[in-house]
Amino acid sequence: MRIYDIIAKKRDGKNLSREEIDFFVKGYTAGEIPDYQASALAMAIFIRGMNEEETANLTLAMAHSGDVLDLSDVEGIKVDKHSTGGVGDKTSLVLGPMVAALGAPVAKMSGRGLGHTGGTIDKLESFPGFVTGISKEEFIRNVNTIKIAIAGQTGNLAPADKKLYALRDVTATVECIPLIASSIMSKKIASGADVIVLDVKTGSGAFMKKEEDALRLAEAMVKIGSNVGRKTMAVVSNMEEPLGYAVGNAIEVVEAIDTLKGQGPSDLLELCLCLGSFMVVGAGITDSVEEARNMLKKTIEDGTALEKLRQFVSAQGGDATCIDNTEQLMHAAIEYEFKAEKNGYVKQIICDEVGVSAMLLGGGRETKESEIDLNVGILLHSKVGDYVKKGDVVATFFANDEKKLNNAVKRFENAYIIDDKDIQKERLIRYIVTDEGVNKVE
Ligand code: URA
Repeated sequence: MRIYDIIAKKRDGKNLSREEIDFFVKGYTAGEIPDYQASALAMAIFIRGMNEEETANLTLAMAHSGDVLDLSDVEGIKVDKHSTGGVGDKTSLVLGPMVAALGAPVAKMSGRGLGHTGGTIDKLESFPGFVTGISKEEFIRNVNTIKIAIAGQTGNLAPADKKLYALRDVTATVECIPLIASSIMSKKIASGADVIVLDVKTGSGAFMKKEEDALRLAEAMVKIGSNVGRKTMAVVSNMEEPLGYAVGNAIEVVEAIDTLKGQGPSDLLELCLCLGSFMVVGAGITDSVEEARNMLKKTIEDGTALEKLRQFVSAQGGDATCIDNTEQLMHAAIEYEFKAEKNGYVKQIICDEVGVSAMLLGGGRETKESEIDLNVGILLHSKVGDYVKKGDVVATFFANDEKKLNNAVKRFENAYIIDDKDIQKERLIRYIVTDEGVNKVE
């Protein structure tokens, strides 16, 4: 078999066999297939697509490209959550501790930033000393003792996805249903949780801009998970504007901490309660979604979720004192106030453009080797539907480099649209997808 022939076959729109997909995944993981051939194949898949069987084969090949964690030593039903990627999406940092505080074991593998979106692993590294590359043994020990561990794709978990993910990030091959579904589900299968809750984003800040594509992606992932015996469900949620107000890395950690202190934005809290309640029910803590929501709210009110965050950060080597002194988390030399140019309602905050602005500040990667600056970011002060007056500060930029700041601000100018007419905000939660079907949320 030759990788050249496999690339040509997909380029010509033909279906790849299981053997061909296995050949690619094994060869790429082992370093025998170079990045330039893997990017050509990723682009061919992007353009030509993959059918259900090819997507399932790619997922399983990537899931088995390294270790598959056996969490049977962990007591209870292990739950995991994953988002398809958004702007300002810090839900894992909030709902992980909330769900774990209720005793549900959260065993989560997360990724780094991808394209214009941020990643939980980069964000967690804002805590000085935090180690995302913990060993399999530590991962299992932490889930057993404190009910939560979040690991990066270090070690040998789904190494094929780790390589392909980094490659797709810089080769414009992210927004593709089979590639996203196999990337996410391979990680989820390899990291061993029994219950998988997926947050599939739709809108300008998502990889799936159209709702029908997000729904197709949700259905594809639920099917893959259910077929391998993992209880899988998905929520399709709105990503037409950033979630919450903070976009960046450390700045999002601060907003997540504020949310656990009961001072977070309502859209972020609502999404955490929705996804978290499915995790709590999945873990068998209660069988009522409504009760799970109330229990989760209580973890914020009584401080147990915040305490769980402290335990989690310390257990992975991070400095948990930052949780009580969040000013220790961000060190940006320059603050720039972006002001409204006229009176009116915020009609649109073009979400992927905001993500790109944060990247241009230095918060995302241009190449696989790029170092990111965890301290830079954007804090919005008004969201869609808010009324602003000319001269009001609508966003603060935190930067460490004048040139990068100028580029980021220029990009943001076209993203923030003010209009005379009041506008109707879009619904945050659109669909719930389970192996039994699709429920539209009215
Ligand atoms: N998240 C992932 O893990 N992979 C993707 O391809 C997109 C989002």
